Formats: sequence, C-alpha cells, structure tokens
Amino acid sequence: MSNSGTEKPFDINEFNVPTPVRRPRRLRTNPVMRSMVAETRLTPKNLILPMFVADGIDEPKPISSLPGVVQHTEDSLVEAVREAIEVGIPCVDLFGVPKDEDKDPEGSDSWNPEGVLNRGLRRLRKEFGDDVLIMADTCLDEFTSHGHCGVLNQDRYGATVVDNDHTLENYVKMAVAQADAGAHILSPSGMMDGQIAAIRAGLDAAGHQNVSIMAYSAKYASAFYGPFREAVGSSLQGDRRTYQQDPANRRESLLEVELDIAEGADMVMVKPAMSYLDILREVADMSAVPVAAYQVSGEYAMIHAAAANGWIDLDAAMMEAVLSIRRAGAEQILTYAAVDLAKKL
Ligand code: PBG
Repeated sequence: MSNSGTEKPFDINEFNVPTPVRRPRRLRTNPVMRSMVAETRLTPKNLILPMFVADGIDEPKPISSLPGVVQHTEDSLVEAVREAIEVGIPCVDLFGVPKDEDKDPEGSDSWNPEGVLNRGLRRLRKEFGDDVLIMADTCLDEFTSHGHCGVLNQDRYGATVVDNDHTLENYVKMAVAQADAGAHILSPSGMMDGQIAAIRAGLDAAGHQNVSIMAYSAKYASAFYGPFREAVGSSLQGDRRTYQQDPANRRESLLEVELDIAEGADMVMVKPAMSYLDILREVADMSAVPVAAYQVSGEYAMIHAAAANGWIDLDAAMMEAVLSIRRAGAEQILTYAAVDLAKKL
C-alpha cells in the first residue's frame, strides 16, 4: 500500500500498543553504563595458563593444531612464565612431554626426580618462588608407553583393563615427586576412583600438607581433546571411556564432585568447558570449594581455525567464550589464550 495523499500516515497510537515502561535498553546506552552493570567480571586473576615442557628439544616447538602454543624447552618455559606473570596471571599448569624411550607401561618417568616434568617444576619454583603458583598435571598418560592415564592389567576374563588401585599407587609416587620438585598445586586428571584421597594421604605422609589439590572432578571423555594429543605426543590407541565420563550424563558429575570434596580436594574442575556449561553451573551452585573449568585444546583450536578463515573475530570470540565460562560459575579458567586475554583485560 502506498502512502498517497488521501491516506493517513502510519500512527502506532491507533493500534493501542502500550508504551513500554520498563526499558532494559537504558542500561545498554553507552560503554560506561554497560561496564557498570556488567554482572560478570573477568580479570587476569581468573586465568590459568596450561604449558608444555618437552625433553630432548633445543628450541621451542610449535604445536600445529594449537596456534600460538609451543612445547617449551626449560629456558623458553621460564621466559614464557615471566611474561605470564607480567600480565597478571597467577598460575601456570605444567604438562611434561618425555622422550619416547622414557615411556614405559607404568609411567615411571613421572616420579623420576630427573624426569622432564619434575625438572621443569623445580626450575620454575627456583626461578619464581611464590610469585606465581606452579600447578602440575598429575596423570600418567604422557608417561605411559600405551598412553592411558593408568596402568593396564588383565581382568579375570582376559580383557585388558585400566587397573584403578594399582594406578593410585603410581599417582601417589608421582604426586610426592611433584611436590618435592616445588609444585604448589597438583591437578590429578586421570579420573581414577579414590585418587584424591590417595594423593592427599601420600602428600601428608611426605610432609606436603600445604600442597593443594585442584581435582579434575567432572572430566568427560571428549572429542575436544584432539589437539592436546598432538601437544603431548600421546601414544594412546583407543579411548578413555572406562574412566572419563559419558557426555550423556549429568548426575554423575555431582557425585564425582561430592566424592572429590569429601576426599580432600581443595578446588574442583569441570572439563571441557564450552559443551558442559550446564554441568559447570550446577557444580558452582553446590560446591563448597572453588570451581574451575578447562577451555580445552579443541575449543581453543576451533576458534582459531574459524578466525584464520576470516569467519569470526579471534579476540572477540575468545573473550566471549571465556567470559561465558566465567558466567557459568568458574572462578578459575584454564585456557591456552590466558596471556592473549590478560593483555586485553
Ligand atoms: C590427561 C589430560 C588430557 C587433557 C588434560 N589432561 C587429555 C585427555 O584426557 O585425553 C586435555 C587438555 C586439552 O585438551 O586441552 N592427562
């Protein structure tokens, strides 16, 4: 219909549409207003940087599926941690990448004081003291020749299984070695039953009462760990579904968290983050201890890949992804983007 001279112009009042009284847009009018009313605040203090230290390399080695992330030498690790401290990051989480010849079915290099991870921890604690919290990944998968997070055994029917309780003995040896090397925080990520109680008891018996535990409590068997496997040169064949959780399940996360807190976890974690924000919210609502979440390798890699194609804006998408993890209830967020984000916060 054209608006010829004979027709009345459109007038919304004729339609009796009520004038809005509540105008939520008032609080979105300018950046200062938006920042004043923002419910969720992200600061560098919320961020933990996962890092890799590798044995037998002379210079940092890029990880092709994790743009901007490298396997460090001990020296380049120190420099990268210094940079993280400068931008205000309070904690780094260290993973070790041993040489293939140092892997065995038990993962024994993980409790060797001269193993790559323990050397890295010792070096960082010596360089930085208490200026940054040094967290260690307490899990066997980087150190076992078969790549599983625990040791293998045969069940009574001849099937190969990950032996829970034998694995706990190795975790305790690894934990004590990491604490001896200077780790402030241990992060057991292997999803064995009873691992927190075993590690806590082992630490206490060794005089490490002040070393704390961030438990990977609700850790799912996720396809989003793909790039990490390249990052650590994983030897894994098969999958981790007999110990990591089924993505279909919600309730068992709450059980895992309750158990870990009862066993002595000082902090709990949900992992991955983005596909499990519902779990994170529930855990944050019920946990009596701080709650962390891990934006895993695949989450980081997807954002980088889309940005490299020009499909999304890298910085904006990364910030939004991490902010939503914070909004869902994580107080600590492990992310490979920690330094990039901290520079922009
Ligand atoms: C196991 C471990 C994994 C990650 C952290 N610790 C891999 C796995 O469970 O298969 C994944 C981290 C990431 O994908 O960024 N020790």
